[in-house]
Amino acid sequence: MNFKKKILCIGAGYVGGPTMAMIARKCPDYKITVVDINAARIAAWNGPEIPIYEPGLEEVVRQQRNKNLFFSTDVDAGIREADIIFVAVNTPTKSFGEGAGKAADLQYWEKTARQILANSGKGKIIVEKSTLPVRTAEAMERILNSNDKGLHFEVLSNPEFLAEGTAIADLENPDRVLIGSRETPEGLKARQEVVDIYAHWVPRKNIIESNVWSAELSKLVANAFLAQRVSSINSISALCEKTEADVGEVAYAIGTDSRIGPKFLKASVGFGGSCFQKDILNLVYICQSYGLTEVADYWESVVKLNQWQQQRFVQTILSSLFNTVAGKRIALLGFAFKADTGDTRESPAITVARGLAEEHAQVVVSDPKAVPQAKIDLKDLGTFVEFEVDPYKACEGAHAVAILTEWKQYKDLDFDRILASMQAPAFLFDGRNILDHKALFDKGFNVFAIGKTPLSHF
Ligand code: UDX
Ligand code: ADP
Repeated sequence: MNFKKKILCIGAGYVGGPTMAMIARKCPDYKITVVDINAARIAAWNGPEIPIYEPGLEEVVRQQRNKNLFFSTDVDAGIREADIIFVAVNTPTKSFGEGAGKAADLQYWEKTARQILANSGKGKIIVEKSTLPVRTAEAMERILNSNDKGLHFEVLSNPEFLAEGTAIADLENPDRVLIGSRETPEGLKARQEVVDIYAHWVPRKNIIESNVWSAELSKLVANAFLAQRVSSINSISALCEKTEADVGEVAYAIGTDSRIGPKFLKASVGFGGSCFQKDILNLVYICQSYGLTEVADYWESVVKLNQWQQQRFVQTILSSLFNTVAGKRIALLGFAFKADTGDTRESPAITVARGLAEEHAQVVVSDPKAVPQAKIDLKDLGTFVEFEVDPYKACEGAHAVAILTEWKQYKDLDFDRILASMQAPAFLFDGRNILDHKALFDKGFNVFAIGKTPLSHF
C-alpha cells in the first residue's frame, strides 16, 4: 500500500505507544512505525499481551497492527524512511551532577537527535512528545542543523496531555492538541503538516497553535497547576482532620464555584505518576537557573506538601496502632499510582510501604495489575514485604488495611468477610476516600480517612 506520509515514533512507552496507536487508527493513509531500543518491549507490542495496561488500548493495537502500525527495534531504518519523527523517549530527573534531583536528564534525547542526524538523507520534521525543559528545541535544532549534508530540520513541540488509565478516551477526545513551531515560513509549513495529522479527528478549534517555547512550557505548567490543586486540597485535608470539617464537603462546596471547578480536588494519600513531580522539579530548576528564586520556591512547595502528605499517612497508621507496627501485618490494597494502570512510578504506595517496613511492619502488597512491578520496586525490603494479588488473602490475619489506589473493585469488597479474617481491633485507613466510612465503623472497623474526623471505637 502507498502511504501518504511515513511517521516514526522513537520510544514505545506510555506516551509513544498509545498516541501512535490512536494516530494509526485515525489516519489510515499514514504509515506509523514505533521503535524502541528495548527489544523485550517491542516484542511485547508485537505479541498477544501488550506491555502496558491501558483500558481499550489492546483493541486499537490489534486492529491496526501490521496494517499501518508497526513496532520495531530497527531505529536507524525507521529514521531513514520517515517524513515526520515524534520523539517520546524518557526524560527522567537527572540523578547526577549539575541540577541533580531537579533538572531533566536529556542524555536520551540528545542521543536520539544525533542518531536522527546520522541516518537522515533528507530534512525532516522532528516533534517533541516527551516533556522537556523550555528551550530544548533550540538545543535540538543546533545539533540537527549543524550538519555538512545541507539538511534542514524543523523541531516542533506537541506535548502529550493524556492521563494514564484514560489514555484512549483522552486521545480520542482531547480537550486540546497543542502544536508549537518556529514562526518562520518553514516552521509554519511543518506546523501545518502536524496539524493535518490531528485534523483527521480533532475539531479544528481544539487544535491550538503557538510558538515552540509556549508549547514546551505549557506542558510543564499544565502539570504544575494540576498537581498544585491536589497539594492544595491535601493541605486542607490535614486541617479538616483537626477541625471536624470534612474535606469532601469542602471540596464539593468550593468546586461548585465555576471559577474553581470540581476536578482534581480529591484529597488523597498523595499524587504520583511519572509526570507531576518530575515536571514541577524541572520547572523549579528552570526558574532557579533564571534567578527566579521566589517562583522556584513557590512551585517546589507543591512537591514538598505531597511528600509530607505521604509521610503523614504513615504517621497516622503508626500512631493509631498504639505507636508500634513492628511485626504487625498491614495489607496495602493498591500499589499503582492511580486506578486502571499497572504503572507505579512515583506511587505514594512506595513511600507508604517503605515507611512501614522501616518500622518493621509485615507489609502485604496487593494490586490487580501492579504486583509484578511492585516486586521490582520493593525488592530490597526482603522479608518485610509479601505480595498477594487476591485482596481477601492479603487481609487475612492483618491488623490494618490501607487503601492506596482507588480501584473500583475495592469499593465492592465483602468487608464483613475481611473483618472476620483480621486481627481485633481492626483498623482501616482509606487513603483514597472511596469507602463508606460510617458503614465500616458500624461493622466494627476503626476507620481513618483523609481529611475526615477519625471514627474510632476507643
Ligand atoms: C498527568 C496529567 O493529568 C496528564 O495531562 C499528563 O499528560 C501526564 O500527567 P497522569 O500522571 O497519568 O497524568 O495522572 P493524573 O490523572 O493526572 O493523576 C496524577 C496523580 O494525582 C495520581 O496519583 C492521582 O491519584 C492523583 N490525584 C489526581 C489525586 O490525588 N487527586 C485528584 O483529585 C486527582
Ligand atoms: P513515557 O511514560 O514518557 O512514555 P517510558 O519510560 O514508558 O516513558 O518510555 C520511554 C521509552 O523510550 C522506553 O521504552 C525506552 O526504552 C525508550 N528509549 C529511550 N531512549 C531511546 C533511544 N535512544 N532510542 C529508542 N528508544 C529509546
